[in-house]
Amino acid sequence: MGRQRVLSGVQSTGELHLGNYLGAIRNWVDGQSHYENYFFIADLHAITVPHNPKRLAENTRTLAALYLACGLDLEFTTIFVQSHVPAHTELTWLFNCITPLNWLERMIQFKEKAIKQGENVSVGLLNYPVLQAADILLYQPDLVPVGEDQKQHLELTRDIATRFNFQFASPKQPVFKIPEPLIRPTGARVMSLLDGTRKMSKSDPAELSRINLLDPPDQIRNKIKRCKTDPIRGLTFDNPARPECDNLLTLYMLLSGKSKAAIATECQDMGWGQFKPLLTEVTIAALKPIQDRYQAIVQEPSYLESVLRQGREKAAAIAFSTLKQAREALGFSTPL
Ligand code: AMP
Ligand code: TRP
Repeated sequence: MGRQRVLSGVQSTGELHLGNYLGAIRNWVDGQSHYENYFFIADLHAITVPHNPKRLAENTRTLAALYLACGLDLEFTTIFVQSHVPAHTELTWLFNCITPLNWLERMIQFKEKAIKQGENVSVGLLNYPVLQAADILLYQPDLVPVGEDQKQHLELTRDIATRFNFQFASPKQPVFKIPEPLIRPTGARVMSLLDGTRKMSKSDPAELSRINLLDPPDQIRNKIKRCKTDPIRGLTFDNPARPECDNLLTLYMLLSGKSKAAIATECQDMGWGQFKPLLTEVTIAALKPIQDRYQAIVQEPSYLESVLRQGREKAAAIAFSTLKQAREALGFSTPL
């Protein structure tokens, strides 16, 4: 039996932060040698909210460079740009016509983002999870590693695939494989530095709420110095009354590589004045190799271009073959 196939993506809006890294990309990197992997840059998703056309292509390149800098290895992994493979938008249309509207209206992320935007909500924002379903199902993956916030979109993807197979394919020959979400328990929800009850997010207007992977050491120092804490001495995990404390200890655990038990013991009598410099130093040290590799990659634009060109070719072949089956199942005539 061949290796299981893994697929995931990140939207190319704003910079990558520790939530994206610990909730998603680091897990992709850690598991990659066991799987056949496809990781893409979701630039079509980036225009579901107002965007700056002058920055779109640059954001996409930055994200691709960060994928490589975080340790994705081309021996195991194909990296490509969503908009370079037109099958994504075509399958989205086909899925639009079989997806009940009320499945989309109940999506939590849509409701949250729609509230933020007031009257200017685009059809694309509502349609976002259907595009995501197409992104996934085109590649027939077994597993989709994401952070906790994407769970509902993955369930919708499974529902769309099941419905399509049921309505248009025979049970013995389904068109789409039903993928499983892969959500690792630790790091799946990294919280804001300013509010331990809200997730760290690219769209939070407060820069101090997140640490970006490309933040220089001084900025990391400043953000941790100013992050929200509480007046209690002695730091402990898992106390619901102290969400910031749990989040900061978890970050320390994930970035230092130490075990939860070791950190619980190390920090049990500490105050924040003692803990914050420790967290600062591990964060800077963990991000340094990524930042160094990123600088080397952006020095060589032709390398990145060739990675994305090869990625597109490989991805497009698989996507086209699935799209063809979907078109046939729906009864379209095939062009001569
Ligand atoms: P996005 O930035 O929304 O495109 O998310 C890209 C990936 O990062 C997805 O797998 C998300 O689930 C994950 N992610 C985003 N924010 C967080 C967070 N605060 N904690 C953990 N994972 C996150
Ligand atoms: N919606 C995802 C996010 O915000 C990004 C994404 C788009 C994605 N298409 C995908 C993730 C397909 C996994 C698989 O994180």
